[in-house]
Amino acid sequence: MQKILVEGGNLLKGKVKISGAKNSAVALLPAAILAESSVTIEGLPEISDVETLSDLLEEIGGKVSKSDQTITIDPSAMTSMPLPNGKVKKLRASYYFMGAMLGRFKQAVIGLPGGCYLGPRPIDQHIKGFEALGAKVTNEQGAIYLRADELRGARIYLDVPSVGATINIMLAAVRAKGKTIIENAAKEPEIIDVATLLTSMGAKIKGAGTDVIRIEGVDHLHGCRHTIIPDRIEAGTYTILAASQGEEVVIDNVIPQHLESLLAKLREMGVEIVEGEEQLTVRPGARLNSVDVKTLVYPGFPTDLQQPFTALLTKANGTGVITDTIYQARFKHIDELRRMNAQVKVEGGASIVTGAVKLEGAKVKASDLRAGAALIIAALMADGVTEITGVEHIDRGYERITEKLLALGANIWREEMSEQEVEQFQNS
Ligand code: EPU
Repeated sequence: MQKILVEGGNLLKGKVKISGAKNSAVALLPAAILAESSVTIEGLPEISDVETLSDLLEEIGGKVSKSDQTITIDPSAMTSMPLPNGKVKKLRASYYFMGAMLGRFKQAVIGLPGGCYLGPRPIDQHIKGFEALGAKVTNEQGAIYLRADELRGARIYLDVPSVGATINIMLAAVRAKGKTIIENAAKEPEIIDVATLLTSMGAKIKGAGTDVIRIEGVDHLHGCRHTIIPDRIEAGTYTILAASQGEEVVIDNVIPQHLESLLAKLREMGVEIVEGEEQLTVRPGARLNSVDVKTLVYPGFPTDLQQPFTALLTKANGTGVITDTIYQARFKHIDELRRMNAQVKVEGGASIVTGAVKLEGAKVKASDLRAGAALIIAALMADGVTEITGVEHIDRGYERITEKLLALGANIWREEMSEQEVEQFQNS
């Protein structure tokens, strides 16, 4: 097990290249199950969630070959092998095996997914969708059993615009007989990316990226080649980091339109941002002012950036309130930031950050992926050295984060944890 160490204070300068989107990748890989020949995906991030999913594809008989950021999946020999335990528990996105295997084999057995603990994360809307398509769904000893004699298109209204449910229903519906309409669908860019892949495979999908998606089922889906979109959350994290501790940082390989809510908030704070076609140049203003933020579904402010944004607010003048309407318990980073002298309190689904505080290095623990990003940003601003454990959460979603930050001039490195530290970490 490793820990990340950061000596704060260096001003960051230079260019950072954003990787392919994690939350697209984790759906695109299972989507390949639906094809009858090889699917090649380019621009994949090298993160542990991608490793885990490609192992799972191999477990069900897929032939997977990888080189650099390209993966080719030959799904022709796959079977509907049950995946009740093991790696599926490692990440949330293993739930996409449900929709994809149901679409291809009309049956699947998948363990309940794991992933970051952000408070309750139900999958009732996924199940409601599968049932509407004609599947019988049961939960037996922690695994979901899905079976359908035939999948039939249906009209499905999502009670909440869930990213996972929207994608999962699309995965099954592309192989259902007849037309499916998903109403109150989520509109995140990753949904468009998955629809683009499925369309290249021969699926008929209209309206991805709006709140009504129409799918006409087809009998066959073929292999194809697809390039993944850039990771808007990784880009947002580096943009926040540049606003916190940058001199001038160029964020490269980004779709600025995907980050409009964040960029608007940063400009409101006094951060200077120049938008290019695929780049953002970020310069912190002379004075940062606090703002309030409320997370919302896309195109609102993303929940995945509220934790990193909290770290930035510790530097701004005034008090800022961050309300998370998507995950009301996504505040595990706050106790850790407090260890670093942040003045933050949590009250009913919101964190209240008193800014203009000098952070100090401390021993802290990343409880989840974006909490880890928040701690790294805080550590870059802090006096002294910060030791961050829970690095495996960070490596699930940020490709080569220490190397990218080193190249921007940060003083950051990894060390192996001693046996005693590992034991302390596991008991904490
Ligand atoms: N919800 C339900 N029922 C459901 C599904 C969701 O009530 O069946 C609720 C959730 O509890 C939550 C809201 O709906 O309050 C939105 O959840 P959603 O289903 O959209 O989230 P998800 O698909 O499980 C994805 C990302 C998350 C990101 C959320 C919100 C993946 C693998 N994960 O999760 O990403 O926070 O959308 O944008 O795509 C991360 O990258 O750090 C991360 C956690």
